[in-house]
Amino acid sequence: MEKTFTMLKPGVLQRRIAGEVIHRFERKGLKLIALKLLQMDKAMVETHYAEHKGKDFYGKLVEYTLSGPVVAMVWEGEEAITMVRRLVGPTDIDVSLPGTIRGDYAYRTRLNIVHASDSPASAEREIALFFKPEELIDWKDGNGHWF
Ligand code: TYD
Ligand code: MG
Repeated sequence: MEKTFTMLKPGVLQRRIAGEVIHRFERKGLKLIALKLLQMDKAMVETHYAEHKGKDFYGKLVEYTLSGPVVAMVWEGEEAITMVRRLVGPTDIDVSLPGTIRGDYAYRTRLNIVHASDSPASAEREIALFFKPEELIDWKDGNGHWF
């Protein structure tokens, strides 16, 4: 099973759509194994987006990411990294189609709702930045609970 990191960006809580976005991943069949609400600080944002330092959108990206709380999550599943990126949709809002999370909820590329790891190396790095190993919960499907 592969793990991937996702983050609901600032504005998602304010818009009261966190549950809807989380539902997109859940209903696909991905398994939520870690989740936290946090306000990132500048050092953490700069680490998270280090690959974009120096690009024209970097300053605005950091400022936006600091502008409110985010919801950090780890999802598990077969080829979860690719699967989640497909559900999220392309970065550019002129390209992301309805049916994808960005296509359905985002009006601007800069405010594109959700971050998702783009490779196994990114996923490993991002999970480690946001979570301690013991915060990932290896819960069992079909463990006898029935609601
Ligand atoms: P990037 O890692 O290229 O996209 P993704 O989030 O799909 O992995 O860029 C990080 C974020 O930076 C992106 O989600 C939104 C913002 N961004 C812009 O504001 N303008 C741009 O031209 C690009 C490429 C990204
Ligand atoms: Mg990226």
